[in-house]
Amino acid sequence: MIDAPSVAEQSEAFSPVNTQTWANGRHSVHCVKVIQETWDVKTFCFMAEQPVMFFFKPGQFVTLELEIDGKQIMRSYTISSSPSVPYSFSITVKRDLGGLVSNWLHDNLEEGFQLAVHGPVGNFNCIDFPAKKVLLLSGGVGITPVMSMARWFFDTNADVDMTFVHSARTPRDIVFHRELEHMDSRITNFSYSLICEKVELGQHWAGYRGYLDPSKLAMIAPDFMDREIFCCGPVPYMQAVKRLLDEARFDMSRYHEEFFGEMPVDVREEAIEQADIAQEQADAIEDADLHTISFSRSGKEVEIMPGETLYTAATKADLYIPKACGMGICGTCKVQVQKGSATMEHNGGITEQDIEDGFVLSCCSVPKENMVVDF
Ligand SMILES: Cc1cc2nc3c(=O)[nH]c(=O)nc-3n(C[C@H](O)[C@H](O)[C@H](O)COP(=O)(O)OP(=O)(O)OC[C@H]3O[C@@H](n4cnc5c(N)ncnc54)[C@H](O)[C@@H]3O)c2cc1C
Ligand code: FES
Repeated sequence: MIDAPSVAEQSEAFSPVNTQTWANGRHSVHCVKVIQETWDVKTFCFMAEQPVMFFFKPGQFVTLELEIDGKQIMRSYTISSSPSVPYSFSITVKRDLGGLVSNWLHDNLEEGFQLAVHGPVGNFNCIDFPAKKVLLLSGGVGITPVMSMARWFFDTNADVDMTFVHSARTPRDIVFHRELEHMDSRITNFSYSLICEKVELGQHWAGYRGYLDPSKLAMIAPDFMDREIFCCGPVPYMQAVKRLLDEARFDMSRYHEEFFGEMPVDVREEAIEQADIAQEQADAIEDADLHTISFSRSGKEVEIMPGETLYTAATKADLYIPKACGMGICGTCKVQVQKGSATMEHNGGITEQDIEDGFVLSCCSVPKENMVVDF
């Protein structure tokens, strides 16, 4: 635990000479503030002991390294704050019923708590896809990356026309409501609309109800076809948005999405398609060059080409290892190897202890020989 610094200590520490900037890697930070956003969502703000300018691309995420019940656990959370306020950064976490880490954070993470974070990383960001007009779409806690983008555009007086459409379950589930209303009231290039799936007894709600559909979108953002779209939310929400955009013949190269959980069905289908193509190519390769990967728990076995990852092998076998970052940073795709070896090029998403215990990150591990994996 770390005590809050005095004002004098702070002024001395914050001299430009002492201040470092954040780069992708493992960093030690401590919690400086906890904010109850809604009944089941909290924001946790972090700073480094020595001042660090937390620069990142709005929309990117970090992976927390925690120890829970004696076990090291990694989980990724989007940075909900903006790099325009760089001396600290925040994550905003929703309690996931029955979930290990989200509940642990809500119940245990308090001011002064020290932990390690990995990152920042992520391709879902508004810097790599600059646009004059954006449509920020979010459902539930999927608001976090687009909130970071909106805060960034707002704070930096960016010449970007923003339409922000958030879908919440009920009025009491709306995250960042007052701040978004504030932005809407301050600048003309920001418009904010809310859609509540349902309204419970005793709740007052005069806004849109139900789900985001073509008629609501046409009313809220009649010019959506001209906008760069950033979308984040639960899988069914994102599937509905994509269907809607497909039907409108939206140029999907201008659609960007992030999902927080299980791999969406269409991504699975795409992965299967890729795996099928790879299988055809594999058929043309000499048998001697192929590696056989066996998944012991499910009793499945596939052959893969040199250079393919363990994760691809699993997909080919119709097995879905949970995957988040796809770049060896979040630890989500960890599996234990029972036989054989692989070359792993990770980015800090696995501990030395795990490696010693035979675990690998399947998204960035390329088998060197035939392998047996516990999955
Ligand atoms: C890039 C990225 C960014 C993210 N950003 C955010 C963010 O900004 N805010 C946020 O709140 N979340 C975010 N997430 C999601 C977050 O990483 C966690 O997945 C989420 O908090 C749930 O983690 P958990 O440990 O609480 O749940 P887990 O323990 O992982 O469980 C997840 C779900 O599975 C169920 N479950 C667990 N074990 C079993 C079992 N044996 N059988 C059946 N069901 C089971 C649980 O009930 C729960 O519903 C992000 C994820 C990614 C990949
Ligand atoms: S999916 Fe994040 S490390 Fe593999």
